[in-house]
Amino acid sequence: MSEIKTVGVLGAGLMGAGIAQVAAQSGFETKVREVSDALCARAKAGIEKQMNKAIEKGKMTAEARDAAMAKLSFATAVKDLKGCDVVIEAVVEDVDVKNAMWKELDALCPPHTIFASNTSSLTIAAMAAATTRPDRMVGLHFFNPVPVMKLVEVVKTVTTSDETFQRAYAFAKSLGKEPIAAKDNSGFVVNLLLVPYLIDAINALEHGVASVADIDKGMMLGTGYPMGPFTLLDFVGLDTTYKIAEIMFDEYREKRYAPPPLLKRMVMAGMFGRKSGKGFYDYSTDPAKPSELGL
Ligand code: CAA
Ligand code: NAD
Repeated sequence: MSEIKTVGVLGAGLMGAGIAQVAAQSGFETKVREVSDALCARAKAGIEKQMNKAIEKGKMTAEARDAAMAKLSFATAVKDLKGCDVVIEAVVEDVDVKNAMWKELDALCPPHTIFASNTSSLTIAAMAAATTRPDRMVGLHFFNPVPVMKLVEVVKTVTTSDETFQRAYAFAKSLGKEPIAAKDNSGFVVNLLLVPYLIDAINALEHGVASVADIDKGMMLGTGYPMGPFTLLDFVGLDTTYKIAEIMFDEYREKRYAPPPLLKRMVMAGMFGRKSGKGFYDYSTDPAKPSELGL
């Protein structure tokens, strides 16, 4: 099995930036692709800020930060990731956007390069079929925030070779993560169970069961969840959650995956959660206040 030394990351939003940080901190040469120089600069500054916070808490040394930052490089051209041993894709949850990038890289990468998608809800098969290397396509599903959450779902689709799966599994471990093996069903293990819960919370809110703050408080204090469902929805991103729900509903045709009308309206209004400054909560104040949703 060929060793992984260089890691490519497509996208440096919430997930891609975290994945790049963890890869660089684990000693891998890490090349990140963002769509513009401004977004490359923002991602780089964001990663450095996270590491500086860890230094302030005494959990990282300045030398370790400098070593990790030296492993990171940024590019705006997808083709610049062509020399990587593994490419992890973390761009918007849209199969056409993802497959356009896979097709471009498929023509350029050496045969041993593994393609790994961080998709939340698409099937890995839908991406494997777009390439000439379906045996080397795998799912590596990280959790938000990536530097903190230990889990990675390693997903084998019908075409993934055993060797690719083993290399991806070992790679996840080398990032300090705890991998689990998951089959290629939409939502894998965690989102299959988590997404209906988040959707139920929105439906409960629309039905007037309780307020955003009280539903959150109820689930935190009543079940020990670290965040209530609305705080978590804002954290994941309402735009991303809406796409995930649509994809899972399309796959299973089951009502429990159907995106609630309120979620759709909020996405249409640009209320994407924490990343846009407003979702179920308004982050313009500290602490954030529940948003006025006209319910
Ligand atoms: N990036 C990096 N590190 C972060 C972070 C971020 N965005 N937010 C918090 N942290 C770190 C803090 O620095 C802190 O680190 P230390 O312990 O080393 O000091 C640690 O996390 C705990 O943070 P805090 O004490 O500030 O806050 P907390 O105790 O409330 O924990 C949390 C924050 C870890 C995010 C916690 O609230 C939590 O676990 N929330 C649930 C997250 C979750 O469910 N994620 C899965 C989402 S679903 C998904 O990812 C899949 C999908 O496909 C949609
Ligand atoms: P994000 O909105 O924070 O970032 C999206 C990224 O996609 C950015 O890098 C952006 O520049 C890029 N992008 C947008 N349009 C593009 C285009 N047309 N061409 C190329 N790149 C484009 O999203 P995120 O939360 O980081 O999610 C990224 C992936 O990770 C999605 O597949 C999502 O389902 C998955 N995921 C998200 C979470 C989460 O909690 N947010 C958790 C696990 C997996």
